[in-house]
Amino acid sequence: MTKKVGIDRIGVYVPGEVLAAEKLAEARDTPVAKLKAGLGMHEMAVVPPWEDTVSLAANAGLRALGSDVSPDEIGLCIVGTESGIDHSKASAIFVHELLGLPSTCRTYEVKHACYGGTAALQTACDWIASGSARGRKALVIATDIAKYPPHSAGEPTQGAGAVAMVVAADPTIVELDRRSIGVFAGQVHDFWRPLDMAQALVDGKYSLDCYLDALAGAFADYRGQIEAAGELPQGEHVVLDGFARFLYHTPFPKMAWKAHAMLAPKDWQSNAARAERLGEDLSAAVKADYDERVDGTLWASRRIGNTYTASMYFGLAATLEREAAALVGKDLAFFSYGSGCCSEFFTGRVLPGAVSEAEGFGLEAMLDARRQVEIEEYERHHAEAGLRGAESPEVPPADFVGPFFYAGTVDDKRIYQRAAAGALVAKAG
Ligand code: CAA
Repeated sequence: MTKKVGIDRIGVYVPGEVLAAEKLAEARDTPVAKLKAGLGMHEMAVVPPWEDTVSLAANAGLRALGSDVSPDEIGLCIVGTESGIDHSKASAIFVHELLGLPSTCRTYEVKHACYGGTAALQTACDWIASGSARGRKALVIATDIAKYPPHSAGEPTQGAGAVAMVVAADPTIVELDRRSIGVFAGQVHDFWRPLDMAQALVDGKYSLDCYLDALAGAFADYRGQIEAAGELPQGEHVVLDGFARFLYHTPFPKMAWKAHAMLAPKDWQSNAARAERLGEDLSAAVKADYDERVDGTLWASRRIGNTYTASMYFGLAATLEREAAALVGKDLAFFSYGSGCCSEFFTGRVLPGAVSEAEGFGLEAMLDARRQVEIEEYERHHAEAGLRGAESPEVPPADFVGPFFYAGTVDDKRIYQRAAAGALVAKAG
């Protein structure tokens, strides 16, 4: 019998600096309405020189373990990232050391653009369901720094952060459905980053089409599986009606609107009676449905920006932090998209334990506590970061919450340290 598996704990972490949309708009001579209303970007995480994808991951991982999960319980650690720190050495092994994971813990990094976190999550669930875990848990971390050239169209869609998830049998927060998972993969050149480049190349408008094509393809695969299993809801009920919230990969918040505005009518129109009843009111119905089931998932994305592998999981954490009690027993739909491309449509049910767990995420508090930077400081950090990060970065300030930070590179070897004064905003003490 398939075991119940899913997300048992969540830890979130964002860098401690932030740039307001108003400041970027003024510096780029762009209407702030384009950033806020056009893209949904209100603030953008800025990465100081003492943070990188490893420190972000370790800081999220520490919060996910908290005081409830011992590092010794972890038998698999996978870091999903597309902005890793080495072409060979895995970010995950630095995280392994910083968190004190056991030497018997299988540890590696995965990459497939923004899909890497989901690849890691599904692998961890399969590892547990197969019995290979032998009672142990997995630590999955999605960590990224989204970076485009200054002054480019992609610049307002940058961001950074990490979400760590403990994956376990009989989970506390979300049980993931293992029976029906819709997949869509295919070679496209929408977004990529050659080995010698610190910033991504993107065919912006085309990337939106690739995302929407993948969503249609992954959902069609999911629907086909539901139909084949005889589980398609009958009568008026169409597939998407069964989900309380939709967690879309969110390169910028407006993308979630584009996704839902494509997907919902497609599903409704598969039911003749529903399609006829909606008639000319279709766009109003889509907007109302988006307001009810999507918009509330995006509040953190508006304040962080794109976090590539982590963005959909920030949506999950944000949704549960505000609405866990109302969502217990309800189903969530997830759409994960990684450029290039691979994508998945999958689902999960919110469990009662999500309510108390979400009280400890501390996401909004962490966002509120960030230091607002001016455009010059953002540009300086951006320029200094390069492919490797600064060799001797500034040390974090006394109020750095981390607690883990990148301390520099000696003999081409990266060094990480734990700040003595790290005062965590979230639950881990
Ligand atoms: N007031 C209000 N809205 C305004 C406005 C104003 N003054 N001026 C423009 N807008 C609106 C536009 O109408 C548009 O809205 P719609 O898309 O609903 O029509 C929106 O603001 C954006 O305007 P443009 O299309 O002119 O924006 P742009 O040319 O500057 O580029 C972008 C937008 C293509 C998303 C660009 O930011 C980009 O390349 N981003 C990186 C790529 C990306 O995020 N792709 C997403 C899919 S790929 C993926 O998901 C993987 C991943 O994470 C990267």
